[in-house]
Amino acid sequence: MTQTGGLRFKLNNGIEIPAIGLGTWQSKAGEVEAAVSYAIKEVGYRSIDCAWAYGNEKEVGEGIRASGVPRSEIFLTSKVWGTWHTRVEECLDQTLANLGTDYLDLYLVHWPVPLNPNGNHPVFPTLPNGKRDVHHEWDLKDTWKQMEAVLQKGKVKSIGVSNFSEKKLEEILPTAEVIPAVNQLELHVYNPQHNLVAYTKSKGIVPQAYSPLGSTNSPLLADDLVVEIASKHSLQPADVLLGYLIAKGIVVLPKSVTPARIASNFTGALAGAEKLSPADVEQLDGRAASGKQKRFITPPWPVDLGFEHWPALNLL
Ligand SMILES: NC(=O)c1ccc[n+]([C@@H]2O[C@H](COP(=O)([O-])OP(=O)(O)OC[C@H]3O[C@@H](n4cnc5c(N)ncnc54)[C@H](OP(=O)(O)O)[C@@H]3O)[C@@H](O)[C@H]2O)c1
Repeated sequence: MTQTGGLRFKLNNGIEIPAIGLGTWQSKAGEVEAAVSYAIKEVGYRSIDCAWAYGNEKEVGEGIRASGVPRSEIFLTSKVWGTWHTRVEECLDQTLANLGTDYLDLYLVHWPVPLNPNGNHPVFPTLPNGKRDVHHEWDLKDTWKQMEAVLQKGKVKSIGVSNFSEKKLEEILPTAEVIPAVNQLELHVYNPQHNLVAYTKSKGIVPQAYSPLGSTNSPLLADDLVVEIASKHSLQPADVLLGYLIAKGIVVLPKSVTPARIASNFTGALAGAEKLSPADVEQLDGRAASGKQKRFITPPWPVDLGFEHWPALNLL
Protein backbone atom coordinates (compact mmCIF):
# COMPACT_ATOMS: atom_id res chain seq x y z
CA MET A 1 0.00 0.00 0.00
CA THR A 2 1.29 3.45 -0.85
CA GLN A 3 1.66 5.75 2.14
CA THR A 4 2.20 9.12 0.54
CA GLY A 5 4.89 10.99 2.37
CA GLY A 6 4.21 9.55 5.81
CA LEU A 7 5.06 11.60 8.89
CA ARG A 8 6.07 15.25 8.43
CA PHE A 9 7.95 17.80 10.57
CA LYS A 10 7.30 21.55 10.49
CA LEU A 11 10.11 23.90 9.47
CA ASN A 12 10.59 27.37 11.00
CA ASN A 13 8.91 28.97 7.93
CA GLY A 14 5.74 26.89 8.37
CA ILE A 15 6.51 24.52 5.49
CA GLU A 16 6.24 20.79 6.27
CA ILE A 17 9.01 18.37 5.36
CA PRO A 18 8.59 14.58 5.18
CA ALA A 19 10.40 12.85 8.06
CA ILE A 20 11.87 10.35 5.56
CA GLY A 21 13.62 11.25 2.33
CA LEU A 22 15.49 9.12 -0.18
CA GLY A 23 19.27 9.76 -0.29
CA THR A 24 20.96 9.78 -3.71
CA TRP A 25 24.70 10.11 -3.02
CA GLN A 26 26.64 7.33 -4.78
CA SER A 27 23.45 6.21 -6.54
CA LYS A 28 24.82 5.51 -9.99
CA ALA A 29 23.45 6.56 -13.36
CA GLY A 30 21.55 3.53 -14.58
CA GLU A 31 20.32 2.80 -11.02
CA VAL A 32 19.15 6.06 -9.58
CA GLU A 33 16.33 6.81 -12.04
CA ALA A 34 14.66 3.48 -11.27
CA ALA A 35 15.29 3.86 -7.52
CA VAL A 36 13.73 7.33 -7.40
CA SER A 37 10.77 6.34 -9.55
CA TYR A 38 10.14 3.19 -7.49
CA ALA A 39 10.43 5.07 -4.19
CA ILE A 40 7.89 7.68 -5.23
CA LYS A 41 5.44 5.59 -7.24
CA GLU A 42 5.43 2.25 -5.44
CA VAL A 43 6.42 3.09 -1.86
CA GLY A 44 5.19 6.60 -1.16
CA TYR A 45 8.38 8.61 -0.63
CA ARG A 46 7.70 12.29 -1.22
CA SER A 47 11.16 13.69 -0.43
CA ILE A 48 14.40 13.26 -2.40
CA ASP A 49 17.79 14.51 -1.19
CA CYS A 50 20.10 15.59 -4.04
CA ALA A 51 23.24 17.65 -4.52
CA TRP A 52 25.02 19.31 -7.44
CA ALA A 53 28.18 17.44 -6.40
CA TYR A 54 26.55 13.99 -6.68
CA GLY A 55 26.64 14.37 -10.49
CA ASN A 56 23.38 12.42 -10.96
CA GLU A 57 20.67 15.09 -10.78
CA LYS A 58 19.61 14.55 -14.42
CA GLU A 59 18.78 10.91 -13.69
CA VAL A 60 17.04 11.88 -10.43
CA GLY A 61 14.84 14.28 -12.44
CA GLU A 62 14.06 11.52 -14.92
CA GLY A 63 13.09 9.24 -12.02
CA ILE A 64 10.74 11.86 -10.62
CA ARG A 65 9.03 12.31 -14.01
CA ALA A 66 8.86 8.54 -14.58
CA SER A 67 7.00 8.15 -11.26
CA GLY A 68 4.05 10.03 -12.72
CA VAL A 69 3.56 11.88 -9.42
CA PRO A 70 3.23 15.65 -9.90
CA ARG A 71 6.32 17.73 -9.04
CA SER A 72 4.18 19.77 -6.65
CA GLU A 73 3.72 16.71 -4.41
CA ILE A 74 7.45 16.11 -4.03
CA PHE A 75 9.81 17.81 -1.59
CA LEU A 76 13.02 18.31 -3.51
CA THR A 77 16.31 19.25 -1.81
CA SER A 78 19.68 20.08 -3.33
CA LYS A 79 22.94 21.69 -2.18
CA VAL A 80 25.39 24.31 -3.40
CA TRP A 81 28.94 22.95 -3.64
CA GLY A 82 32.05 24.71 -2.22
CA THR A 83 33.38 25.90 -5.58
CA TRP A 84 30.10 27.83 -6.08
CA HIS A 85 29.89 29.78 -2.79
CA THR A 86 30.65 32.99 -4.71
CA ARG A 87 28.04 32.13 -7.40
CA VAL A 88 25.17 30.39 -5.58
CA GLU A 89 22.51 31.24 -8.16
CA GLU A 90 24.59 29.82 -11.03
CA CYS A 91 25.00 26.51 -9.21
CA LEU A 92 21.29 26.49 -8.39
CA ASP A 93 20.39 27.16 -12.04
CA GLN A 94 22.45 24.14 -13.10
CA THR A 95 20.69 21.98 -10.52
CA LEU A 96 17.26 23.22 -11.61
CA ALA A 97 18.09 22.50 -15.27
CA ASN A 98 19.47 19.05 -14.42
CA LEU A 99 16.46 18.12 -12.30
CA GLY A 100 14.09 19.62 -14.89
CA THR A 101 12.23 21.82 -12.44
CA ASP A 102 11.89 25.56 -11.86
CA TYR A 103 12.13 25.54 -8.05
CA LEU A 104 13.48 23.56 -5.11
CA ASP A 105 11.71 23.00 -1.83
CA LEU A 106 14.97 23.26 0.09
CA TYR A 107 18.46 24.47 -0.87
CA LEU A 108 21.41 23.84 1.44
CA VAL A 109 25.00 25.02 1.74
CA HIS A 110 26.63 21.59 1.35
CA TRP A 111 29.72 22.28 3.55
CA PRO A 112 30.86 25.44 5.35
CA VAL A 113 33.99 25.33 3.20
CA PRO A 114 34.27 27.76 0.25
CA LEU A 115 36.64 26.30 -2.35
CA ASN A 116 38.64 28.18 -5.00
CA PRO A 117 36.22 28.75 -7.91
CA ASN A 118 39.16 29.15 -10.32
CA GLY A 119 41.28 26.25 -9.08
CA ASN A 120 42.69 23.19 -10.81
CA HIS A 121 39.47 21.13 -10.54
CA PRO A 122 35.77 22.12 -10.72
CA VAL A 123 34.74 20.03 -7.67
CA PHE A 124 37.86 19.30 -5.60
CA PRO A 125 40.54 21.92 -6.40
CA THR A 126 43.86 21.23 -4.71
CA LEU A 127 47.04 23.18 -3.93
CA PRO A 128 50.50 22.03 -5.05
CA ASN A 129 50.93 20.46 -1.56
CA GLY A 130 47.90 18.25 -2.23
CA LYS A 131 45.60 19.95 0.31
CA ARG A 132 42.15 21.10 -0.77
CA ASP A 133 42.26 24.63 -2.22
CA VAL A 134 40.08 26.52 0.27
CA HIS A 135 38.94 30.05 -0.63
CA HIS A 136 40.06 31.49 2.73
CA GLU A 137 39.23 35.11 1.80
CA TRP A 138 35.55 34.33 1.21
CA ASP A 139 33.21 34.99 4.12
CA LEU A 140 30.47 32.42 4.84
CA LYS A 141 28.17 35.32 5.72
CA ASP A 142 28.25 36.28 2.04
CA THR A 143 27.38 32.74 0.94
CA TRP A 144 24.36 32.96 3.21
CA LYS A 145 23.38 36.38 1.75
CA GLN A 146 23.33 34.73 -1.69
CA MET A 147 21.17 31.90 -0.31
CA GLU A 148 18.75 34.54 1.02
CA ALA A 149 18.71 36.19 -2.41
CA VAL A 150 17.62 33.01 -4.27
CA LEU A 151 14.94 32.49 -1.60
CA GLN A 152 13.76 36.05 -2.17
CA LYS A 153 13.62 35.43 -5.92
CA GLY A 154 11.34 32.43 -5.36
CA LYS A 155 13.72 29.90 -6.90
CA VAL A 156 13.69 27.93 -3.63
CA LYS A 157 11.06 27.70 -0.91
CA SER A 158 13.40 27.15 2.06
CA ILE A 159 17.13 27.52 2.70
CA GLY A 160 19.37 25.71 5.12
CA VAL A 161 22.86 24.43 5.83
CA SER A 162 24.71 21.15 6.05
CA ASN A 163 27.75 20.09 8.04
CA PHE A 164 27.57 23.29 10.13
CA SER A 165 28.94 22.95 13.68
CA GLU A 166 27.86 25.45 16.35
CA LYS A 167 31.02 27.43 15.53
CA LYS A 168 30.07 27.65 11.84
CA LEU A 169 26.41 28.48 12.57
CA GLU A 170 27.62 31.31 14.80
CA GLU A 171 29.49 32.73 11.79
CA ILE A 172 26.26 33.30 9.87
CA LEU A 173 23.46 33.64 12.46
CA PRO A 174 24.30 37.13 13.81
CA THR A 175 23.82 38.72 10.35
CA ALA A 176 21.29 36.26 8.91
CA GLU A 177 17.97 37.77 7.84
CA VAL A 178 16.56 34.26 7.39
CA ILE A 179 17.36 31.58 9.97
CA PRO A 180 18.33 28.29 8.26
CA ALA A 181 15.38 25.90 8.14
CA VAL A 182 17.53 22.76 8.52
CA ASN A 183 21.05 21.62 9.34
CA GLN A 184 21.88 18.35 7.57
CA LEU A 185 24.48 16.42 9.58
CA GLU A 186 26.05 13.00 9.89
CA LEU A 187 23.79 11.61 12.62
CA HIS A 188 23.41 7.99 13.70
CA VAL A 189 23.87 5.87 16.81
CA TYR A 190 27.69 6.01 16.51
CA ASN A 191 27.75 9.79 15.88
CA PRO A 192 24.71 11.28 17.64
CA GLN A 193 26.24 14.78 18.16
CA HIS A 194 23.87 15.36 21.10
CA ASN A 195 25.18 18.87 21.89
CA LEU A 196 25.01 20.07 18.28
CA VAL A 197 21.52 18.62 17.79
CA ALA A 198 20.34 20.38 20.98
CA TYR A 199 21.93 23.67 19.84
CA THR A 200 20.45 23.31 16.34
CA LYS A 201 16.96 22.72 17.75
CA SER A 202 17.36 25.62 20.21
CA LYS A 203 17.75 27.94 17.18
CA GLY A 204 14.54 26.60 15.59
CA ILE A 205 16.52 24.65 12.98
CA VAL A 206 15.38 21.10 12.12
CA PRO A 207 18.23 18.55 12.18
CA GLN A 208 18.43 16.12 9.25
CA ALA A 209 20.41 12.88 9.47
CA TYR A 210 22.63 11.91 6.59
CA SER A 211 24.24 8.46 6.59
CA PRO A 212 21.56 7.42 9.14
CA LEU A 213 22.39 3.75 8.52
CA GLY A 214 26.15 4.35 8.80
CA SER A 215 26.75 4.73 5.03
CA THR A 216 28.41 2.13 2.76
CA ASN A 217 29.31 -1.23 4.43
CA SER A 218 27.92 0.01 7.72
CA PRO A 219 28.86 -1.76 10.96
CA LEU A 220 25.77 -0.27 12.63
CA LEU A 221 23.45 -2.87 11.12
CA ALA A 222 25.27 -5.60 13.05
CA ASP A 223 25.73 -3.65 16.30
CA ASP A 224 24.79 -5.91 19.26
CA LEU A 225 22.51 -3.39 20.94
CA VAL A 226 20.76 -2.44 17.68
CA VAL A 227 20.23 -6.12 16.80
CA GLU A 228 18.95 -6.88 20.32
CA ILE A 229 16.43 -4.00 20.27
CA ALA A 230 15.37 -4.96 16.73
CA SER A 231 14.69 -8.56 17.68
CA LYS A 232 12.80 -7.52 20.84
CA HIS A 233 10.34 -5.51 18.69
CA SER A 234 10.36 -7.81 15.61
CA LEU A 235 12.05 -5.06 13.57
CA GLN A 236 15.02 -5.03 11.20
CA PRO A 237 18.22 -3.33 12.47
CA ALA A 238 17.73 -0.60 9.83
CA ASP A 239 14.26 0.10 11.26
CA VAL A 240 15.78 0.67 14.70
CA LEU A 241 18.51 2.97 13.32
CA LEU A 242 15.99 5.09 11.39
CA GLY A 243 13.18 4.94 13.97
CA TYR A 244 15.59 6.07 16.71
CA LEU A 245 16.35 9.29 14.81
CA ILE A 246 12.74 10.02 13.86
CA ALA A 247 11.67 9.49 17.48
CA LYS A 248 14.13 12.28 18.35
CA GLY A 249 12.57 14.69 15.82
CA ILE A 250 15.33 14.22 13.25
CA VAL A 251 14.61 13.87 9.50
CA VAL A 252 16.24 10.72 8.04
CA LEU A 253 17.66 10.39 4.51
CA PRO A 254 18.46 6.70 3.95
CA LYS A 255 19.98 5.93 0.54
CA SER A 256 19.27 2.73 -1.31
CA VAL A 257 19.01 1.61 -4.92
CA THR A 258 17.64 -1.79 -3.86
CA PRO A 259 13.82 -1.92 -4.17
CA ALA A 260 13.25 -4.15 -1.12
CA ARG A 261 15.38 -1.86 1.06
CA ILE A 262 13.83 1.32 -0.36
CA ALA A 263 10.45 -0.09 0.72
CA SER A 264 11.47 -1.53 4.10
CA ASN A 265 13.36 1.62 5.11
CA PHE A 266 10.22 3.69 4.56
CA THR A 267 7.76 1.51 6.45
CA GLY A 268 10.36 0.27 8.95
CA ALA A 269 11.45 3.76 9.97
CA LEU A 270 7.92 4.66 10.97
CA ALA A 271 7.39 1.31 12.73
CA GLY A 272 10.69 1.79 14.54
CA ALA A 273 9.76 5.29 15.69
CA GLU A 274 6.46 3.95 17.04
CA LYS A 275 7.78 0.82 18.74
CA LEU A 276 10.98 2.05 20.40
CA SER A 277 10.43 2.80 24.09
CA PRO A 278 12.01 5.79 25.87
CA ALA A 279 14.35 3.24 27.51
CA ASP A 280 15.44 1.93 24.08
CA VAL A 281 16.11 5.48 22.90
CA GLU A 282 18.10 6.19 26.07
CA GLN A 283 20.23 3.08 25.53
CA LEU A 284 20.85 4.00 21.89
CA ASP A 285 21.67 7.58 22.97
CA GLY A 286 24.51 6.19 25.08
CA ARG A 287 25.90 3.77 22.47
CA ALA A 288 28.52 6.11 20.96
CA ALA A 289 29.84 7.13 24.38
CA SER A 290 30.28 3.47 25.30
CA GLY A 291 33.36 3.33 23.04
CA LYS A 292 31.61 3.19 19.67
CA GLN A 293 31.90 6.86 18.62
CA LYS A 294 32.69 6.94 14.89
CA ARG A 295 32.22 9.25 11.92
CA PHE A 296 32.08 7.72 8.46
CA ILE A 297 32.13 10.89 6.30
CA THR A 298 35.33 12.89 6.85
CA PRO A 299 36.50 14.78 3.76
CA PRO A 300 39.99 16.19 4.42
CA TRP A 301 39.09 19.89 4.61
CA PRO A 302 42.10 21.89 5.77
CA VAL A 303 39.96 24.14 8.00
CA ASP A 304 38.74 23.92 11.57
CA LEU A 305 35.07 23.01 11.23
CA GLY A 306 34.54 23.08 14.99
CA PHE A 307 33.15 19.55 15.24
CA GLU A 308 33.73 17.22 18.17
CA HIS A 309 35.25 13.91 17.08
CA TRP A 310 36.54 15.29 13.78
CA PRO A 311 39.83 13.62 12.77
CA ALA A 312 42.67 15.92 13.95
CA LEU A 313 44.61 14.93 10.84
CA ASN A 314 42.35 17.14 8.75
CA LEU A 315 42.94 20.33 10.69
CA LEU A 316 45.55 22.91 9.84
N1 LIG B 1 25.18 16.67 3.37
C1 LIG B 1 26.20 15.84 3.22
O1 LIG B 1 27.38 16.22 3.28
C2 LIG B 1 25.91 14.39 2.99
C3 LIG B 1 26.93 13.44 3.18
C4 LIG B 1 26.61 12.10 2.99
C5 LIG B 1 25.30 11.73 2.65
N2 LIG B 1 24.34 12.69 2.44
C6 LIG B 1 22.95 12.33 2.05
O2 LIG B 1 22.45 11.34 2.94
C7 LIG B 1 22.10 10.17 2.20
C8 LIG B 1 22.33 8.90 3.01
O3 LIG B 1 23.67 8.77 3.42
P1 LIG B 1 24.61 7.62 2.84
O4 LIG B 1 24.25 7.36 1.45
O5 LIG B 1 26.01 8.03 3.17
O6 LIG B 1 24.36 6.39 3.77
P2 LIG B 1 23.14 5.51 4.38
O7 LIG B 1 21.85 5.92 3.83
O8 LIG B 1 23.37 5.52 5.85
O9 LIG B 1 23.57 4.07 3.86
C9 LIG B 1 23.50 3.72 2.51
C10 LIG B 1 24.07 2.32 2.36
O10 LIG B 1 23.29 1.40 3.10
C11 LIG B 1 22.74 0.40 2.23
N3 LIG B 1 21.38 0.14 2.73
C12 LIG B 1 20.27 0.92 2.57
N4 LIG B 1 19.22 0.39 3.20
C13 LIG B 1 19.64 -0.75 3.78
C14 LIG B 1 19.00 -1.74 4.56
N5 LIG B 1 17.71 -1.66 4.88
N6 LIG B 1 19.74 -2.80 4.98
C15 LIG B 1 21.05 -2.90 4.67
N7 LIG B 1 21.73 -1.98 3.93
C16 LIG B 1 21.02 -0.91 3.49
C17 LIG B 1 22.80 1.00 0.83
O11 LIG B 1 22.96 -0.02 -0.13
P3 LIG B 1 22.10 -0.13 -1.51
O12 LIG B 1 21.93 1.23 -2.09
O13 LIG B 1 23.00 -1.01 -2.33
O14 LIG B 1 20.80 -0.78 -1.15
C18 LIG B 1 24.07 1.86 0.92
O15 LIG B 1 25.22 1.07 0.73
C19 LIG B 1 22.99 10.27 0.95
O16 LIG B 1 22.59 9.40 -0.08
C20 LIG B 1 22.87 11.74 0.64
O17 LIG B 1 21.63 12.01 0.03
C21 LIG B 1 24.62 14.01 2.63
